[in-house]
Amino acid sequence: MVQLFKPNANTYAKVSLIMGAVIPFCVFYFGSTITRAPYNTGVGIPRDQPIPFSHRHHAMELGIDCRFCHTSVETSAVAGLPTTEVCMTCHSQIWTNSPLLEPLRKSWETGTPIEWVKVNRVPDFVYFDHSIHINRGINCNTCHGPIQQMTITEKGQTFHMSWCLECHRDPADFMYEWNADESPRQQVFELYKKLMAGEKLTGYEYEIAEGHFKKIPKDKAHQELGESLMETRQINKSQLTDCYVCHR
Ligand code: HEC
Ligand code: HEC
Ligand code: HEC
Ligand code: HEC
Ligand code: HEC
Repeated sequence: MVQLFKPNANTYAKVSLIMGAVIPFCVFYFGSTITRAPYNTGVGIPRDQPIPFSHRHHAMELGIDCRFCHTSVETSAVAGLPTTEVCMTCHSQIWTNSPLLEPLRKSWETGTPIEWVKVNRVPDFVYFDHSIHINRGINCNTCHGPIQQMTITEKGQTFHMSWCLECHRDPADFMYEWNADESPRQQVFELYKKLMAGEKLTGYEYEIAEGHFKKIPKDKAHQELGESLMETRQINKSQLTDCYVCHR
């Protein structure tokens, strides 16, 4: 048989495969050492926006459902931001003279979308999907902090890989049943209903409301509830930490 490759071609192939894996790793690794500095994670720092939009006002005091503005959060990877039309369903009638709403009126007149400053972000080499988390009943505040209290939106968690893995290693700790009559997806929004109704919160509910990821109780009773919800929601944790889940 004619020899197509020199005997050591295989070694070259192997070396280039390894380099192909190692170089991006080093770029990621040294790049991320810089982004890990606390002043750079952006957690808890309100971001200036073209319009000072308040979640406390709209989502809590007025009681507008998250899904009214973040329409694709249950069904797609991205939650989506509201268009000017959505704001104008109310603001073409109320607060029409507010100077704070001047950029909104301008956007409406010119048809140019408002350029909201992004608060939460994972790097491009990370795959994230909202719909699967919402459909497993994980509340927004677990990842975004106490949104319902924010007058200017800020980041609630670092979104470092180790943070994602804290849950992916064993999501049972973060599973909860707010209202047994509702689907897991609907339960995500029960927290805000409870808060609006002024109902007393359990210890677990309080920590979620406050976005205290690290303080979520991990006692035995909750562990048992979590395990049984893992079963009914058919969550298989054995593959959740595999690299390809988030890096595809
Ligand atoms: C009336 C519309 C409206 C409602 C209701 C609303 N939001 Fe928002 N949300 C916005 C707008 C506008 C922005 C972009 C400006 C900003 O970041 O404050 C935003 C931004 C966000 C962000 C940050 C996005 C980014 O840039 O990373 C999160 C997280 C969020 N909303 C969660 C929620 C949750 C949770 C609820 C329900 C409790 C909710 N929102 C209800 C309009 C709304
Ligand atoms: C369901 C109705 C409704 C929708 C939708 C809505 N708002 Fe409002 N918004 C209100 C009401 C009511 C107030 C005034 C509340 C008050 O101060 O008593 C208000 C107040 C505001 C204010 C404060 C104005 C001032 O001068 O103090 C801003 C800014 C604002 N809204 C921005 C937005 C933006 C941006 C959107 C779209 C993302 C939006 N709103 C969507 C009802 C709405
Ligand atoms: C498991 C954690 C997690 C949960 C639960 C979660 N988010 Fe997010 N959210 C993220 C991450 C991570 C990003 C950044 C995504 C990116 O950069 O691609 C994000 C981004 C966003 C954004 C910015 C726009 C976008 O789609 O990228 C909005 C708005 C938002 N989330 C709203 C919500 C709302 C509303 C809920 C609850 C109904 C929710 N999120 C639940 C982790 C979460
Ligand atoms: C509080 C718990 C929790 C946190 C925090 C969390 N996840 Fe998840 N994630 C889950 C659960 C539960 C599932 C669903 C597993 C299943 O149903 O088998 C999941 C599934 C996924 C999937 C699989 C989607 C699919 O289509 O198969 C991806 C991708 C993912 N998560 C990315 C992330 C990333 C990236 C982060 C951090 C920014 C993150 N997750 C943070 C609990 C969490
Ligand atoms: C649950 C989701 C998830 C899984 C599973 C996951 N990663 Fe990541 N990974 C992330 C996120 C999110 C980042 C971005 C971190 C940041 O921005 O600081 C990241 C970043 C990285 C980086 C850049 C350096 C760093 O630490 O920030 C490398 C390298 C990496 N991941 C390798 C891996 C390998 C190898 C595996 C399998 C053993 C893996 N990842 C599994 C979510 C995940």
